[in-house]
Amino acid sequence: MNNQGRPSSIEKMAAQGTIEANELPTISGDRGLDHEEALIFELGRDGMTGVDLPDVQLSESRLAGQRRKTPIGLPGLSEPEVVRHYVRLSRMNYAIDAGLYPLGSCTMKHNPRLNEKMARLPGFGDLHPLAPQSTTQGALELISELMKWLTTLTGMPAVAMSPKAGAHGELCGLLAIRAAIEARGETRKRILVPESAHGTNPATAAFAGFVIDEVKGTADGRVDMIELEGKLGPDVAAIMLTNPNTCGLFERDIRHMADATHKAGAYFYCDGANFNAIAGRVRPGDLGIDAMHINLHKTFSTPHGGGGPGAGPVVLSAALAPFAPLPLLVHDKDGFRLIEDRAELPAGAKPFGRMCAFHGQMGMFVRALAYMLSHGRDGVRQASEDAVLSANYILASLKDVMSAPFGDGPCMHEALFDDSFLKDTGVSTLDFAKAMIDEGYHPMTMYFPLVVHGAMLIEPTESESKESLDRFIHVLRTLALEAKAKKTERFAGASLRAAASTRRPPPANRYCVGRKRTCRRPPSDARPRPAHGGAAGRGAGARLADLCP
Ligand SMILES: Cc1ncc(COP(=O)(O)O)c(C=O)c1O
Repeated sequence: MNNQGRPSSIEKMAAQGTIEANELPTISGDRGLDHEEALIFELGRDGMTGVDLPDVQLSESRLAGQRRKTPIGLPGLSEPEVVRHYVRLSRMNYAIDAGLYPLGSCTMKHNPRLNEKMARLPGFGDLHPLAPQSTTQGALELISELMKWLTTLTGMPAVAMSPKAGAHGELCGLLAIRAAIEARGETRKRILVPESAHGTNPATAAFAGFVIDEVKGTADGRVDMIELEGKLGPDVAAIMLTNPNTCGLFERDIRHMADATHKAGAYFYCDGANFNAIAGRVRPGDLGIDAMHINLHKTFSTPHGGGGPGAGPVVLSAALAPFAPLPLLVHDKDGFRLIEDRAELPAGAKPFGRMCAFHGQMGMFVRALAYMLSHGRDGVRQASEDAVLSANYILASLKDVMSAPFGDGPCMHEALFDDSFLKDTGVSTLDFAKAMIDEGYHPMTMYFPLVVHGAMLIEPTESESKESLDRFIHVLRTLALEAKAKKTERFAGASLRAAASTRRPPPANRYCVGRKRTCRRPPSDARPRPAHGGAAGRGAGARLADLCP
């Protein structure tokens, strides 16, 4: 039997829903060419390696009793077994290249292959961060060109390029704000965070040592200005606002918010992860913003998901520009130069420190600039307009069968629904997501933003054709109508509860449904065991499949 760590008995597979009770099981335990994959520790055997190394004669005396007494605990596999394991895992990874990826607050848009080609040019792909700067002038010029694009698109005078993700950019912005406040001889501890904020905003503020003060929203999904103004005071360092916000709405009072914040002596941080809704149309600098990170890995189409890589440059207002972190990129008679040392700082520069070793994510910079140059400024604007149009098309096409919490719209780049259309159907938001997976669609962002009950946040982006959107809408409409008519066979939880139903929804890839849970609770005992191998050994270790619903 081809032991891949799958359930070892038909009864167990039926209990897990891997097969129907009356289904003929396969001899191998797999179904089709998509294998159920075990952990690499479960696959490995003692004494197996992919290479032959000569025995090494180690001198006990030089090890001073530090010689390892237990096996090192690495899984033993041959090279083809390792390759197959990771190729099989990679095939489980759903990607924008495989189909529509409507995750709200993520901007999963197409990554043009031209960008990839540019990033792989040897002059960029093979760069070493410690290469002498005289040999990397082209790369430094590329960073400088990208900085020009970012400052022009945002209407802000300065940009710090080194942050490596959105949340890292938030930290950079808050550290610049703290440095500016300290330079005024003040200490301010409070950061105002609207309740609809992305989770990274309060997390970053806490990480930077600030106290978070939540600001409530209004019934129409925006920041409550009365509450905000009531909270502004001499101990407030900044407000952190996402615009467009996580309900997919533009904050109408943003100029007023900026004025009130500045009047209180505080700074205005904007989470710019949703810049794809406004790039080329609105310049955050014109709205009174002091610092904003831009997720290159969203708006400017560099690949992301699965933890990276990302890049979160932070644009800064004139008030915060002097506090931008090292390194600083300058251009003088000798060409481009990175200033790493405080002794070489230009007049007025007071960097708060640095965000990371080296200069940022070069590969992401190349991809982002390739995207910008190939689209042009009007193309960037067109992309944003199309992203907003697509989201409004979805909202308008579904709002009669699903429930839109903030009325009829229009929305920005994301269409938000809540679960009130599922009330009394026995179908939950999670059941709805599972049914979408069964239909071949990655679900939208579920249960976020938290301000909306059972939220479903759809961000189609500009990448989808009208035909693709129509197919998606058709599936969601049909599912919503069936749920409302209490035809619950397609919905896992509901159909299991409905005793009368004999049919069950088709089995989806369980790893996908349980992915988040598995990430949060990785199997802690996934180590080789003395009695390793065979069904008993596998049964003793936690299996990925066991952790998923
Ligand atoms: C609104 C918002 N802010 C911040 C972030 C954090 O960005 P990153 O994941 O690059 O740290 C995200 C990412 O999902 C986001 O959607």
